[in-house]
Amino acid sequence: MKVLVTGGLGFIGSHTVVELQEQGFEVVIIDDLSNSSEKVIDGIVAITGKKPVFEKIDLKEKSKVEDFFKRHNTIEGVIHFAASKAVGESVEKPLLYYENNISTLVYILKELSKKDKANFIFSSSCTVYGQADTMPITESAPVKAAESPYGNTKQIGEEIISETCKVAPSLSAIALRYFNPMGAHPSAEIGELPIGVPQNLVPFITQTGIGMRQQLSVFGDDYPTTDGTCVRDYIHVVDLAKAHVIALKRLIDGKNVTNYEVFNLGTGTGSSVLEVIHSFEKVSGKKLNYKIVDRRPGDVISAYANTEKANSVLGWKAESTLDQAMKSAWDWEVKIRS
Ligand code: WQD
Repeated sequence: MKVLVTGGLGFIGSHTVVELQEQGFEVVIIDDLSNSSEKVIDGIVAITGKKPVFEKIDLKEKSKVEDFFKRHNTIEGVIHFAASKAVGESVEKPLLYYENNISTLVYILKELSKKDKANFIFSSSCTVYGQADTMPITESAPVKAAESPYGNTKQIGEEIISETCKVAPSLSAIALRYFNPMGAHPSAEIGELPIGVPQNLVPFITQTGIGMRQQLSVFGDDYPTTDGTCVRDYIHVVDLAKAHVIALKRLIDGKNVTNYEVFNLGTGTGSSVLEVIHSFEKVSGKKLNYKIVDRRPGDVISAYANTEKANSVLGWKAESTLDQAMKSAWDWEVKIRS
């Protein structure tokens, strides 16, 4: 069974390629290497012993997308990770985000709509909820006005897929709304490779722990939470990757109830920034150098998932604890800096 993974050399993409290969799928990766490296293939091979087909394609080039699907006409499913994902950058460069995240999705869906049957998994985000009114957040929580062009591209992306599925019954799709992915494969052969200064909390923590960064800035401790710092649902990237394979199989096996479904992917547990810092200190045995600074604009106070739908309908549940995920993130950081 041949599956296309766009953005397959990225953080979540590469972990999903590993899980797909381990479940017997033949994987073709498209990546433009704008936020990844071809060396990730070596890590994938080191884990699974299987080398995925890789094609460096810029999905913004429509003719290249059409040509790819002509050459690979036996593809059973597409898992679409390829997108720009830095919230702050999206505010500075909105057109880059709308072009990259929306046009590429449209070109892929146009090709899938030509097929007799197509299965599509979309990388979405809890960011579509904005600051949800009630915790934990269910899939029926209202989608709120996006706080950033990045978040807007995920909302628009979901709408494009939903509308397309309505007029293309041969297309079945699932949108997976990730909470906060973190960690690395236990082999430490693949993991998160942020380019430049990490925007996300966990890589900034591990880079501070290893001495690459001087000090972590904690963006505010005056929020209405247990310890004043923001709360998020940190999910191990391997748990997230496994959910993608389960979702794809659901569509391939025709088990989906409608041809467009949405699932939250989280642990169901909220952790504050200080709790994440303490988890790092516990698993690494190191004291983390941090200071409290002003709030970061656009941050929501709290976001953690109600996972009942994914647990009962998808038959998936996150298995790793925060400490286990943090240990894998730290082991990875130590490995790549050694
Ligand atoms: C987590 C918490 C920060 C860095 C974003 C996107 C989401 C997804 C994941 C792509 C917040 C605090 C952070 C730092 C800090 N992106 N923090 N110091 O903002 O919840 O989610 O990344 O898929 O769509 O919205 O993640 O890791 O940036 O922040 O105090 O140096 O850590 O204020 O409370 P976020 P994050």
